[in-house]
Amino acid sequence: MDATNNTGAKSAKLSLGEQSWDLPIRGGTIGPDVVDISKLYGQTGMFTYDPGFTSTASCESKITYIDGDEGVLLYRGYPIEQLAEDGDFLETCYLLLYGELPTAAQKAEFDHSVTHHTMIHDQMTRFFNGFRRDAHPMAIMVASVGALSAFYHDSTDISDPTQRLIASIRMIAKMPTLAAMAYKYSVGQPFVYPKNSLDYTSNFLNMCFAVPCEEYKVSPTLSRALDKIFILHADHEQNASTSTVRLAGSSGANPFACIAAGVACLWGPAHGGANEAALKMLAEIGSVDRIPEYIARAKDKNDPFRLMGFGHRVYKNYDPRAKIMQKTCHEVLTELGIKDDPLLDVAVELERIALHDEYFIEKKLYPNIDFYSGITLKAMGFPTTMFTVLFALARTVGWIGQWKEMIEDPSQRIGRPRQLYTGADRRDYIPMSQRK
Ligand code: SDX
Repeated sequence: MDATNNTGAKSAKLSLGEQSWDLPIRGGTIGPDVVDISKLYGQTGMFTYDPGFTSTASCESKITYIDGDEGVLLYRGYPIEQLAEDGDFLETCYLLLYGELPTAAQKAEFDHSVTHHTMIHDQMTRFFNGFRRDAHPMAIMVASVGALSAFYHDSTDISDPTQRLIASIRMIAKMPTLAAMAYKYSVGQPFVYPKNSLDYTSNFLNMCFAVPCEEYKVSPTLSRALDKIFILHADHEQNASTSTVRLAGSSGANPFACIAAGVACLWGPAHGGANEAALKMLAEIGSVDRIPEYIARAKDKNDPFRLMGFGHRVYKNYDPRAKIMQKTCHEVLTELGIKDDPLLDVAVELERIALHDEYFIEKKLYPNIDFYSGITLKAMGFPTTMFTVLFALARTVGWIGQWKEMIEDPSQRIGRPRQLYTGADRRDYIPMSQRK
């Protein structure tokens, strides 16, 4: 049922010469109305044109809402600030998947179910041995997530709701195990198996940093901080990787293959790879006195350099996640006794200067979630190559939740965009002997 749309009008009129068409307007619960153009081609013989989808709603969803101008992010209506402050990551997973906050009993059952799916088929461990030790962990994640479909045939029938649910739980449960294995493999240490006595995020830290030779005690403060970071990264409307998962899923591909496609898309530096790129940028800047040089480069149209961790397609205000990320960064550095982190000094000063610079103000460029996450994760002991892996770990619930919503939408059909063709007109084949 459509809520009353903001315009009050039920349709928009498109006129072309003597002809005109009425295009239905639909309103959502909150946010911009949409002009339904699904019948436009049939009516007018024309397509719309929106290469970066800057003005295009690709689907209807009930999961996440962003108000880019106000810097608001809601998961199933709940503000990200409250979920991060008062809940834990698995509660957010339940909320994103099922639409409501769990009762105590539902939460206990969900935690138990996820905990008891954290192991992977032991034959998968051989899969890792095929990689060079210096392989980027994201390359290993793209491969190993896709490989899950070779091991879990009993949850690849997307028409079966039970199998869809098992696949969703398996994805959420096994991503930390695969991520930790990718890290361990890269540092030449033995894999650490999941421990069911630990909570989700403590288990992940243990699988990453424990070694067989001694007891490893997970810091509750660091575990809580990382759990909060996972909540911040869990979902974000129809971003590039989520749209990739939806498009892959629209063909009927199995969920593991669809999530692998999402991991691949997230890797790009304009998207999830920005946290790794932002930390490298801060390290390259190196000191506060070199900031003006980089600000100038970011503003120079002839220089491809961009301030990584700044700007956003939707947020034209401060990314609410970046605010929480900055606070968490200080908590982690304090817990670890890191008094002055030169990278943090550069980040804080860079943010201060950028937010007062005309260029950034005019283009509404603010720090996004990736600006402070790198400093935090580096302080926790993760190498920069693992930053996007952690983003993928957290975003898996968003991907799988959006995939599930799409599969369960009765109006769902394969995604197949059209194009504006500007290539050669029809022409005949030229035999080799006649080519110049
Ligand atoms: C994520 O979509 C999501 O929700 C993504 C995400 C999620 O949770 O899934 O939020 C996660 O991907 C966050 C974004 C991480 N990426 C970065 O931090 C990389 C640096 N940022 C940019 O590459 C850029 O801001 C994007 C890709 C994030 C957004 O690009 P848009 O919306 O296509 O904007 P644009 O490239 O058209 O830029 C608009 C203007 C341009 O100037 P003009 O051509 O208009 O003169 O702003 C400039 C850009 O040159 N600009 C920047 C800039 N970002 C945009 N200039 C300097 N530094 C930057 N970072």
